[in-house]
Amino acid sequence: MRVRLLDLSEQYRALSEEIRAATEEVLSSQRFILGPKLKAFENAAAAYCGSPHGIGVSSGTDALLAVLMALEIGLGDAVITTAYSFFATGGSIARVGATPVFIDIDPATYNISAPALRGYLEKFCHPAEGKLVNENGQTIVALVPAHLFGLCCDMNEMLAIAREHSLILIEDAAQAIGADFPLASGPARAGAMGDAGCFSFYPSKNLGAAGDAGLVVCRNEQFAERLRQCRHHGMGAQYRHEFIGGNFRMDEIQAAILNVKLPHLDGWSAARREAARFYTNEFHRVGLDHKITLPVEPYASSGLTNHHIYHQYVIRTTRRDELRQYLADREVETAIYYPLALHEQPCFEYLAYQAGDFPEAEQAARESLALPIYPEIPRESQQYVVNCIAKFFS
Ligand SMILES: Cc1ncc(COP(=O)(O)O)c(C=O)c1O
Repeated sequence: MRVRLLDLSEQYRALSEEIRAATEEVLSSQRFILGPKLKAFENAAAAYCGSPHGIGVSSGTDALLAVLMALEIGLGDAVITTAYSFFATGGSIARVGATPVFIDIDPATYNISAPALRGYLEKFCHPAEGKLVNENGQTIVALVPAHLFGLCCDMNEMLAIAREHSLILIEDAAQAIGADFPLASGPARAGAMGDAGCFSFYPSKNLGAAGDAGLVVCRNEQFAERLRQCRHHGMGAQYRHEFIGGNFRMDEIQAAILNVKLPHLDGWSAARREAARFYTNEFHRVGLDHKITLPVEPYASSGLTNHHIYHQYVIRTTRRDELRQYLADREVETAIYYPLALHEQPCFEYLAYQAGDFPEAEQAARESLALPIYPEIPRESQQYVVNCIAKFFS
């Protein structure tokens, strides 16, 4: 049996008429950039995330980049982020000229470790002239946690740390649209807890466009306006560029498609959670929970529906590469998110991190394996995956 890692064909079949109609509307209108579809999507998506302002952009990467540029973060600044994420989380910090400072992860959640972050701040940073300065004399200006695989970071801790050290808190929520978190002040959604939240609508994301697209949400109206300018080359009045931005605009066709899909997102997240529950129950039933490490649900007891939205279902084993090959031989697709921790990326050699600096991220990169998951995944396919894994370990 062939099991795809992700198969969105059923989703498209169900929505194809609506998607075609919405796309046709844009084509007929000949309004492709910064039009009504985008406005409608920005409003709906921001409301969905529980944030007052939404700014549609060209990708999740550009969401991060636009936020950093709009904040004028650059040379001499350092931005703290996780050592384990998609490249863009660290890459966008470097692209604005700032220095990414990596922090190890919590091995159970794969998200940035709050104790490790506190440890770094205590050991290597000191206040100087009202700023927080690190061991290299750089000013720590912002913190960019990433909510990996559909599970929020410990945002109570991230917010507390950001407040204690006056850091700007930018959430990389690319993989977590709609994920709920039990904040001490009340439940909140991914992206809406910090100063800005960045989303990706890359086609394989839980809410996927038909190409590249992204979104920033934020609370501050002035900052939202600055982001709107930033995505449009920093333009205020026509052809008057107040600051240097970029072409980071989401186009009307992507917005039209996302408008069709957004109302289905909660249903898809519920279906992903059901699929995850099936895997977890089956792995327990066949006794594999002692051989592989399963995903955790630290906020399940909060009662929040979307406490995990399972963008990915990631297991761990020291025999990862062997298992992956075994599954591939049996036509089960899997993926490794990510085979290298960020400090191990060749392009970050200049940061002079050493092997062993972030042992948990390094180990996750060697052991993690993402299994097929998507809302419509048939239970028989999942059963086949479990059976194959059971056979591998038998
Ligand atoms: C954690 C994370 N950050 C940033 C991005 C960048 O998003 P995009 O691919 O839309 O540029 C992605 C998605 O690929 C991601 O998973």
